[in-house]
Amino acid sequence: MKILVGITGGIAAYRGAELARTLTKRGHVVRCCLTEAGSRFITPLTLASLTGQPCFGANPEYHEWRPNPIIEHVDLARWADVVAVAPATADIMGKTANGLANDLLSTLLLATTAPVLWAPAMNKAMWAHPAVQANVARLKGFGHTVVEPAEGMLACGEEGAGRLAEVADIADAVETLAGPAHPALAGRAILITAGPTQEDLDPVRTLTNRSSGAMGIELARAFRNAGARVSLVLGGDLPAPWGVPTVRVRSAQQMLEACQALWPDQDGLVAAAAVADQRPQTCAQEKVKKGLGPETLVLVRTPDVLSTLSANRGRDQWLLGFAAESEAHVPNATAKLHMKHLDGILVNDIRGGKGFGLQANVLIPITTSGQAESLGPLPKDQLAQAVVRWWGDWLGGKGK
Ligand SMILES: Cc1cc2nc3c(=O)[nH]c(=O)nc-3n(C[C@H](O)[C@H](O)[C@H](O)COP(=O)(O)O)c2cc1C
Repeated sequence: MKILVGITGGIAAYRGAELARTLTKRGHVVRCCLTEAGSRFITPLTLASLTGQPCFGANPEYHEWRPNPIIEHVDLARWADVVAVAPATADIMGKTANGLANDLLSTLLLATTAPVLWAPAMNKAMWAHPAVQANVARLKGFGHTVVEPAEGMLACGEEGAGRLAEVADIADAVETLAGPAHPALAGRAILITAGPTQEDLDPVRTLTNRSSGAMGIELARAFRNAGARVSLVLGGDLPAPWGVPTVRVRSAQQMLEACQALWPDQDGLVAAAAVADQRPQTCAQEKVKKGLGPETLVLVRTPDVLSTLSANRGRDQWLLGFAAESEAHVPNATAKLHMKHLDGILVNDIRGGKGFGLQANVLIPITTSGQAESLGPLPKDQLAQAVVRWWGDWLGGKGK
């Protein structure tokens, strides 16, 4: 994807550089356009070095202007698949909201037909000012996306809303805008479960498993980037992806209840959570003391989230499950596919600790038509994209 990052004159300009670097590392071609005020906070050389592309806009002495400056704004405006301004000052938003163009960035913002994203950063009183809020509303009215500033300690020493959003969230939002939608997934409502569940023994101890939720979170990102309307039900501590409504849960029972509330409005379910099969029969009100015994833990079955949703499926709803198996993984996953009446299942061979943590992973897709070609080994983000392509193509072929 070709992404133009506009960086304007605020203290958070260095985080605009971080955004350019993050997007470059995610495999995009990134060019930066720096305003003159921005160039007082960060240099074109930094941005050109981080992106491997020329930096445009601010200072002809650094040679960042292209050979034909007269039509440069049009060239750049046409070049970009998406334009993201981060940090965005009150000034640049005010200019674009009112059709003003007196430098390269403001001019190309009027000339581009690509999606535009704003990540504002400023003092909390500036952000709250009705003039700024009116400009933001006007930009949204043009169809632009705004990644709202976060609450927190501001560079001016005050606390409140105005801090630039997290760089990873802005990068996610950019990818959402520019990612090619999958025709079978665009606009579809998809429920994704992710992460471990935790079954409490007492106020401090819990039964859980080694799943972090990273794969399910990457799936939520990848389905969202393919144009789906994703809802996430998430166990564990990892942060939820930007732009995905998320319900946080701990136990299998909570996961079931959250899913049941959402399920009637969904087109499909991607069940990537590692749900506990058992929970302690009782959860002690107070911390269990050493020596009070007995030392035997009595376990009872938790509700089966996937089977329950499958049993309550509507005629056109589909279910894609996951299986982590340490032996006979394909036969076991195929049995699970049939037993739970799933449309597809992705199985993970977890022998030797594979599949957990950060290392590259392999998934074997199985559908009601049989086993398909393995996906991976790939890092989890790319594996999630491969799953989305495979599943979108399968759904497209089935006409679901
Ligand atoms: C030290 C300093 C920090 C500033 N930080 C911000 C800021 O965080 N947000 C903002 O909207 N303006 C900030 N400003 C004001 C802008 O730099 C000023 O409005 C400038 O004209 C913006 O130009 P630009 O939008 O073309 O980059 C700051 C100014 C100074 C001197």
